[in-house]
Amino acid sequence: MQRIVVLNPKGGSGKTTIATNLASYLAAHGHAPVLMDFDPQGSSLRWVKKRKPTQPAVQVIAAFEKDTRTTRAFQLRVPEETTHVIVDTPAALEARQLPEMTRDAHKILVPVLPSDIDIHACSRCIRDLLLVGKIRRDEDRIGVIANRIRRNTLIYQALIRFLHTLGIPIVATIRDSQNYVRAAELGVGVHEMKSYVAHEDIEQWEPLVSWLAGPRDAAQGPPAAPPQAAAAAPATATAAGTAAAGSQPAAEDSALQEADKPAAADEARAGLTPALAIA
Ligand SMILES: Nc1ncnc2c1ncn2[C@@H]1O[C@H](COP(=O)(O)OP(=O)(O)OP(=O)(O)O)[C@@H](O)[C@H]1O
Ligand SMILES: [Mg+2]
Repeated sequence: MQRIVVLNPKGGSGKTTIATNLASYLAAHGHAPVLMDFDPQGSSLRWVKKRKPTQPAVQVIAAFEKDTRTTRAFQLRVPEETTHVIVDTPAALEARQLPEMTRDAHKILVPVLPSDIDIHACSRCIRDLLLVGKIRRDEDRIGVIANRIRRNTLIYQALIRFLHTLGIPIVATIRDSQNYVRAAELGVGVHEMKSYVAHEDIEQWEPLVSWLAGPRDAAQGPPAAPPQAAAAAPATATAAGTAAAGSQPAAEDSALQEADKPAAADEARAGLTPALAIA
């Protein structure tokens, strides 16, 4: 059984969209996924409840509900046949909650939107995962998903440059598409829509699915700067601290880093290298 946690404390980055579409993909491919909804908004729970009995089954656990009549372990138990547990997490998750949320995670997906605010929030999230969550980059457990992408925009290129500086793989690039909005309304995923409507969206899930399934070396590895981005700013893609156009997130992050600088031993454990823009 594989546990996949979808996480980014920044609201609206696409956690529920990724979690539900991944559940839909897995169910449609004969797996037995469970969506575990830790968000009191209950969006994943609502999505599952919209599904019809004729659709491939996705189980759901309302993990945000605290049932005092049973133990927590009992409340969170999954059916025996479960192949994947997909954890949808709430916005504003605090750094101190990360170790518990990610402890048993085989993979952690961090969706990020192409905006300056989101890029900055993402850098903070990755830093917290490494330093507070004690996840080592060489474990290859963290994958970033560039979400709601419109190619050929400057902010997209800035996002890709920023992700490149992190040394964390971009495991999917998901376009901005009304199919995701429609799918959410209908309780389906893009994989369950007609392929002539959603084939462009469906294709974009292939790298993500193979990263989730594959051995370590099947991952894309630290992303190469895309040609446009490299052409736009050839010197920025490899240098630490040059994240995003104008490098503001990196500058702010070094300030943050100063504010709550971890012990050197912690940094070593987290596997931070000088290539990490936020270190
Ligand atoms: N690739 C996409 N294309 C178009 N719309 C999208 C895409 N991804 C997400 N959205 C839309 O953006 C909104 C926010 O997405 P979503 O609810 O998945 O984010 P979230 O991170 O779960 O938010 P929260 O932090 O509030 O839980 C939703 O209306 C969703 O349909
Ligand atoms: Mg959500």
